[in-house]
Amino acid sequence: MNASILPGISPSMMCANALELGRDAEALDRAGAQFFHYDIMDGAFVPNFTLGPDVIRAVRKVSAVPADIHLMVQNPERHLHLFDLRPGDVVSVHQESTIHLQRTLAAIRQAGAQAAVALNPATPLCMIEDVLPDVDMVLVMTVNPGFAGQKLVPATLAKIARLRAMLDASGYGHVRIEVDGNVSFENAKKMRAAGADLFVAGTSAVFCAGGIAANMQKLTDCIR
Ligand code: DX5
Ligand code: ZN
Repeated sequence: MNASILPGISPSMMCANALELGRDAEALDRAGAQFFHYDIMDGAFVPNFTLGPDVIRAVRKVSAVPADIHLMVQNPERHLHLFDLRPGDVVSVHQESTIHLQRTLAAIRQAGAQAAVALNPATPLCMIEDVLPDVDMVLVMTVNPGFAGQKLVPATLAKIARLRAMLDASGYGHVRIEVDGNVSFENAKKMRAAGADLFVAGTSAVFCAGGIAANMQKLTDCIR
């Protein structure tokens, strides 16, 4: 675990109340969200469609919380220009989704955002060992991407720990680890212990019974 990195919550906006998105965003902002997590899906890389650039623009009108944009799309490099990226934003692209990963990560930084690479549960860590200089964060999918409400893939907990060890041992201790999928209160504690520091919170912890403010506080207590 990298004690110098302040753990944070990145609520999954696909799980917010679509009819009250502005109200939910303001509540999440007040509750200390470090980012807003936007899942962008193309129906090809993952068998679903969710949010788009216009939703990000709309939320930016009510909150300055930076965008954590998760591109679950084929050839993400073709779409970066659609997102008016700002300093403080982070964009994750899947290692499995682009032939020229290093070029795509460099393009994200060139556009002014932090760059992150995402890994599906089945993708080994060795697939990203040569792009560590190009990333500010690694997103470990703890479910298979595409849908909310799924169950944790158990093997991903050990994968988080191996990734933290790999980053720390190779001089990349500053690189953050984000986890995405079934981040429940109980799973969050295990993920934190394994070395994660940014938590995508959806139906498992924030957008469920109890309300946003109480759930965000409870999850914050779980990841200290
Ligand atoms: C999965 C989504 C996540 C997450 C939603 O593709 O990217 O946003 O699963 O949260 P949960 O898993 O808690 O419903
Ligand atoms: Zn996501």
